Amino acid sequence: MRVKTLLLVALLIAVEVVLVAGRHHGASMPGSPFNISKNDSCLKRVVLIAAYSFNNQSNDAFLFKASVIHRAQRQVVRGIRYIIDLDLSRTVCRKQNSTDLSNCDFQSDRRLNQTLQCHFEVWLIPWQNTTKTLVLLCKS
Ligand SMILES: *[C@@H]1O[C@H](CO)[C@@H](O)[C@H](O)[C@H]1NC(C)=O
Ligand SMILES: *[C@@H]1O[C@H](CO)[C@@H](O)[C@H](O)[C@H]1NC(C)=O
Ligand SMILES: *[C@@H]1O[C@H](CO)[C@@H](O)[C@H](O)[C@H]1NC(C)=O
Ligand SMILES: *[C@@H]1O[C@H](CO)[C@@H](O)[C@H](O)[C@H]1NC(C)=O
Ligand SMILES: *[C@@H]1O[C@H](CO)[C@@H](O)[C@H](O)[C@H]1NC(C)=O
Ligand SMILES: *[C@@H]1O[C@H](CO)[C@@H](O)[C@H](O)[C@H]1NC(C)=O
Repeated sequence: MRVKTLLLVALLIAVEVVLVAGRHHGASMPGSPFNISKNDSCLKRVVLIAAYSFNNQSNDAFLFKASVIHRAQRQVVRGIRYIIDLDLSRTVCRKQNSTDLSNCDFQSDRRLNQTLQCHFEVWLIPWQNTTKTLVLLCKS
């Protein structure tokens, strides 16, 4: 399966959506970000969102998923903002088959394994049922 060698595409994903917060809502003092446990149950969902955002934007033939969470913070600011530093690594699952990420093992082949260091910020607004990716920056 030499075809795979084609796929080592340099990845540099930069998406920045500036948070245009409704200033007219007035003077609610937002809290500061604070560290949360890497076991936090919401964090698991947010980390999945990071992987989905990344995969949506990558040109890679394979799906990536989180391999390490380095730092996770939460901030209450008209909803909840998560700020996460994590590693995303290439899995064996092909994107076109869009499999459930949880069943995807990491690549073990030296020519194919790749890990990117990513900074992810997402804003969840539970009462609007919305999720906004504010920052997703990855480097190898
Ligand atoms: C995370 O959860 C695992 C198992 O659920 C537990 O063994 C571990 O001690 C927890 N770690 C932290 C930092 O809470
Ligand atoms: C990827 O993101 C774009 C723009 O946000 C969206 O329209 C599209 O449906 C997404 N695709 C997938 C596969 O999630
Ligand atoms: C937050 O977590 C990071 C990484 O785990 C650590 O370096 C930092 O000291 C922590 N900050 C606080 C205030 O606990
Ligand atoms: C991906 O899907 C195609 C067609 O649906 C199938 O032939 C192929 O075996 C699948 N590959 C993997 C790795 O599951
Ligand atoms: C890739 O695999 C090799 C051999 O298993 C390992 O030494 C290396 O650390 C891996 N690299 C990444 C980025 O996972
Ligand atoms: C919120 O979003 C989830 C997933 O997209 C959807 O299943 C659910 O019906 C939505 N709820 C409301 C109140 O819009």
